Amino acid sequence: MKDILRELEERRAGARLGGGERRIEAQHAKGKLTARERLELLLDEGSFEEFDMFVTHRATDFGMAAQRPAGDGVVTGWGTINGRMVYVFSQDFTVFGGSLSETHAQKICKIMDMAMQNGAPVIGLNDSGGARIQEGVASLAGYAEVFQRNIMASGVVPQISVIMGPCAGGAVYSPAMTDFIFMVRDTSYMFVTGPDVVKTVTNEVVTAEELGGATTHTRKSSVADGAFENDIEALTEIRRLVDFLPQNNRGGVPVRPFFDDPARVEMSLDTLVPANANAPYDMKELIAKTADEGDFYEIQADFAKNIVTGFIRLEGRTVGVVANQPMVLAGCLDIDSSRKAARFVRFCDAFEIPILTFVDVPGFLPGTGQELGGVIKHGAKLLFAYGEATVPKVTVITRKAYGGAYDVMASKHLRGDFNYAWPSAEIAVMGAKGATEILYRSELSDTEKIAERTAEYEANFANPFKAAERGFIDEVIMPHSTRRRVCRAFASLRNKRLSNPWKKHDNIPL
Ligand code: HXC
Repeated sequence: MKDILRELEERRAGARLGGGERRIEAQHAKGKLTARERLELLLDEGSFEEFDMFVTHRATDFGMAAQRPAGDGVVTGWGTINGRMVYVFSQDFTVFGGSLSETHAQKICKIMDMAMQNGAPVIGLNDSGGARIQEGVASLAGYAEVFQRNIMASGVVPQISVIMGPCAGGAVYSPAMTDFIFMVRDTSYMFVTGPDVVKTVTNEVVTAEELGGATTHTRKSSVADGAFENDIEALTEIRRLVDFLPQNNRGGVPVRPFFDDPARVEMSLDTLVPANANAPYDMKELIAKTADEGDFYEIQADFAKNIVTGFIRLEGRTVGVVANQPMVLAGCLDIDSSRKAARFVRFCDAFEIPILTFVDVPGFLPGTGQELGGVIKHGAKLLFAYGEATVPKVTVITRKAYGGAYDVMASKHLRGDFNYAWPSAEIAVMGAKGATEILYRSELSDTEKIAERTAEYEANFANPFKAAERGFIDEVIMPHSTRRRVCRAFASLRNKRLSNPWKKHDNIPL
C-alpha cells in the first residue's frame, strides 16, 4: 500500500512540474507566474480541487508519443473566491507553449459543462501558443468544442477571460465570446493574425504590442475590458470583480454585509452641477458618493470615456451603473459609448443585476464620422438594450437630457421603474440656443429678440417640471439625498417581476 501511495505522490509531483524547471524559470524570467501559481493567487487558500491532473495527449505524429506530460498544458478544476464557487482553467505555457490539443480542450470543456450544470462562473487564465500544431484538425475541433460551450454558457454563468501571455489566431474567439476580457500589460497580446502575417499581406510593419497589446485593446479596439500591471494585480482585481457578480442567471446578486448608512446625506452633491450649464463636472464623484463605501468597479475605464460603466453595491447588493460623463465630449452619446454601454446593460439584464442610470447627455455626437460609421445602428443597440431589460431600472437625470438621448437613457418610456431628476435637470428636444435658432430663424439678426426667445425657451424647458407634470419624471429629488432615494427605490423593486413576450431570441441591431 505504501508503494502505491508513494507512486501517487510521485505522479502528482511530476504533474505539478509541468514542462520542467528550465521552462518554469523561463516563465518567471518573462515576469509571468506559472499556471499553478496563478491559481493559488486567484482562489481562496487551500480551496482548489483539481480535475484531470493525469490526462495526457494521444498524438503520435512528430515524435509526440515520446513526450506525454501529465496534465497536457492546462490545469483545470474548481475552487472558491471569498467563499463562492468558481470553475477555473489555467493554461500552462511550460507544456508545449500552453498550446491546445484535443485532450487539453476536453479538460476545459469538462469544467465548462460542470460550471453550467452547477451554476458557477468560469474563469479562464489564457497563456497559449494556440492550436497544438502537431495535432492539426483535432486541435481545431477542440477549439470549436470550447467555442460552442462559450456560446451555450453565455447568459447562464458569468465567463471571465484573463489574457496572461500570447493569445493568437482563432484562439482569440473563445475569450471574445466571454463576458469580460482582462489583460496583463507588456506580457499579453491578442490578435487574429500576428505581425509577420500582417507584414506579408498588407506590408504594414507593426509590433505585437501595437497590434494586440493591453493598451491597444483597452483604448482603441475595446476588445478588452481592463488591463493590469502584472499577474498579481490582475488576479487580485479578478477576485474583486467576482465579489460583485451573481453565480448564474437564476441566483440573483450576491448580498454582502455593508457598513454605510443607506440614508447617508451628501451635501456636496447640491453643488456638483456647475452654474454654467456648459461647464463639465465629474460624474464619477456622484457614483462614488452614491455607492456603499464608495466602492466602484469600473468596466472599460479607458474606452469611450464619455460614458461610464461598472458595478457598485447599494445596501450590500450589486447594482450596475451607466452614467454619461460630462468631462468627455460633454457626455454625448456616440458609436463607441453606445456599444460599450449596450453590452454592459445586456450583461446586467442577463444576470438579474439592477441598473442605475445617471443622465447628463446633450444628445448624439454630430458628424460625418459618426453617421458614416453607422451611429444609427450602434445608437440603437443601447436603446434596444435598455428597452428589453426587465431588471429593476432607476434613473436620475442630473442635468441635460436632450433629444433621442433622453429616450435612450433608461427613460420612463423604456420601462424605467423610478425616474428621478435633480432640480438642475433640463429635459427638452434640444438646448435653448439651437432651439431658438431653428424656431425663430427669421429673427436671427435681432439679437435682443433672440435673447428674449432663448430666455422664454429656457424658462419652459431648462427644468425638470414639464416632464414631471406628465409623470415622465416620478419625483424631483434633492441631489444630497440621491443615495437614500436610490437605495429605497431599489429596495422596493426587489420582488419586481417583468417578462418580455415569448420569442426564440430578439434581433438586436448588431
Ligand atoms: C505546439 C508550441 C506551439 C504550438 C509554441 N509551442 N506554440 N507547440 N503548438 N502552437 C512550443 C514551442 O515549440 C516551444 O517548445 C514552447 O512551446 C515555447 O515556445 P517558444 O517559441 O520557445 O516561446 P516564445 O519565444 O515565448 O514564443 C511564443 C509564441 C511562439 C509567440 C507563442 O511559440 C509561436 O509563435 N508559436 C506558434 C503560434 C501559432 O502560430 N499558433 C497557431 C495559431 S493558429 P519547447 O519544447 O522548445 O519548450 C491557431 C488556430 C486556432 O491557434 C484556430 C481555432 C479555430
